[in-house]
Amino acid sequence: MDESGVNPNTNVIRIFDTTLRDGEQSPGASLSSAEKIDIARQLARMGVDIIEAGFPAASPDDLEAVRRIAHEVGTPDGPVICGLARAHQNDIDKAWEAVQAAAKPRIHTFLATSDIHMQHKLRMTREQVIERTREMVAYARAYCEDVEFSPEDACRSDPDFLVQVLTVAIEAGATTLNIPDTVGYITPHEYGALMRKLITETPGGDRVIWSVHCHDDLGMATANTLAGLEAGARQAEVTMNGIGERAGNTSLEEVVMALHTRPNFYQFSTQIDTTQIARTSRMVSNFTGIAVQPNKAIVGANAFSHEAGIHQDGMLKHQATYEIMTPETVGLTQSNLVLGKHSGRHAFRVRLQELGYEMEGEELNQAFQRFKELADKKKVVTDADIEALIAVEFYGPEEVFHLEGIQVACGQPGMPTATVRLRGPDGQIYIQAAIGTGPVDAAFQAIDRIVSVPNTLVEYRVSAITEGIDALGEVTVRIRRDANGGRTFGGHGADTDIIVASTKAYLAAVNKMLAYTGYADRAPEGDAATVRVGTTA
Ligand code: KIV
Ligand code: ZN
Repeated sequence: MDESGVNPNTNVIRIFDTTLRDGEQSPGASLSSAEKIDIARQLARMGVDIIEAGFPAASPDDLEAVRRIAHEVGTPDGPVICGLARAHQNDIDKAWEAVQAAAKPRIHTFLATSDIHMQHKLRMTREQVIERTREMVAYARAYCEDVEFSPEDACRSDPDFLVQVLTVAIEAGATTLNIPDTVGYITPHEYGALMRKLITETPGGDRVIWSVHCHDDLGMATANTLAGLEAGARQAEVTMNGIGERAGNTSLEEVVMALHTRPNFYQFSTQIDTTQIARTSRMVSNFTGIAVQPNKAIVGANAFSHEAGIHQDGMLKHQATYEIMTPETVGLTQSNLVLGKHSGRHAFRVRLQELGYEMEGEELNQAFQRFKELADKKKVVTDADIEALIAVEFYGPEEVFHLEGIQVACGQPGMPTATVRLRGPDGQIYIQAAIGTGPVDAAFQAIDRIVSVPNTLVEYRVSAITEGIDALGEVTVRIRRDANGGRTFGGHGADTDIIVASTKAYLAAVNKMLAYTGYADRAPEGDAATVRVGTTA
């Protein structure tokens, strides 16, 4: 067994999740530290072998988030916690500073090897790249026994040069060699052949773990990943929902479920608890604000729906007629009628535990209170309702402003008007009213008037969590800050009233933007019409 409990000679594929690093590089996917930790916990619960928690040299906040994940999630029976570093001493120092608290730390360092990257980006010769690889892998190895090296843009590099670089990386102490298709260019056949060549021709290649890392620019990331595993790689680098740079990375759920559903063909297994997939997918989508397309394999809303009459008829006769895996395998329980308004605190707590949420004391009391309020409005409360409630209210971003109340007047004819009441970071209550094109627009404008930090709404999405007129409405909002480079922030809200859900989602996105810009330390300016009414609600 190696340090993460996987025997490198077996056919167990290590799942290396990079949702928090490559995934967070998706346009618009900025996560708060609290969200990163929640996602890391959920990834650990799902059973991923390695979490690439971030790029610590990117900023002090990134370093701190990786450090907290290493400390809180990197327990002895938890996953390896990995930090990314360019092949620079400073990056490697920062990566080590961030991951060293983990029981099983890893430093992942990379350097480009394609002619186009070496000439135009690095301005380095092949000899210099070989020397830097030797020095920086050895530098990382002096800190940490577990060192991964990636020749960036490997799939557009000269394969014989790659062998030279990888030979040096092994000599300098790398324990995992990752072969990235950085720009999503290669085809499955070519990737399999490249992987086979590298594994057989690199001296010492039998002593390291080979890893696959693909991007989806041509829609071939999953196929390429599987081809790399068939060729001998034993680690797959993936992200939840396939989020990542440009068209994204290989999606975790597709690779894991391909191996799970076709065991006779692939003869590989993973340590993933597949029943955690749907929940992890929802959490990542909610926290990043990046929607999952309805027809997305495994986790899309339609992945297990059957529309055509002939299919429905077949399904009623036998589920296997049109389903190669059951929704339950990925954690989509159909029989999710769980609790009602007469359910007690104990039953609620047990259900929370079954869903993977450990809550005690005051936090449990608050969650139970919210459940009761929901059960008063809805006849039956499903698992999805509970998860939406918990995810938004207890695992959501840190609050700068808290929503104390929202009232709207709308209709036809009329002037949609919203009055919003927020508790600010200084404890004071702020009230504002606005007229908008509709009640949601009016509510958002009222919030903007209090907060006074300009932003542009780039996405607003409403969906129903369950069926029926009393369904919990789920809203995702994305805003772009107008100043300082236009970073995007996502927010999520759920309520039986979609105006309330929308206001919560917008405020969550605004809070994330404010936390990012350090706003929490000052009192809101508000516009001239903002009413301040003391510090009690
Ligand atoms: O795609 C890529 O090349 C990467 C490396 C940093 C591994 O993400
Ligand atoms: Zn990548």
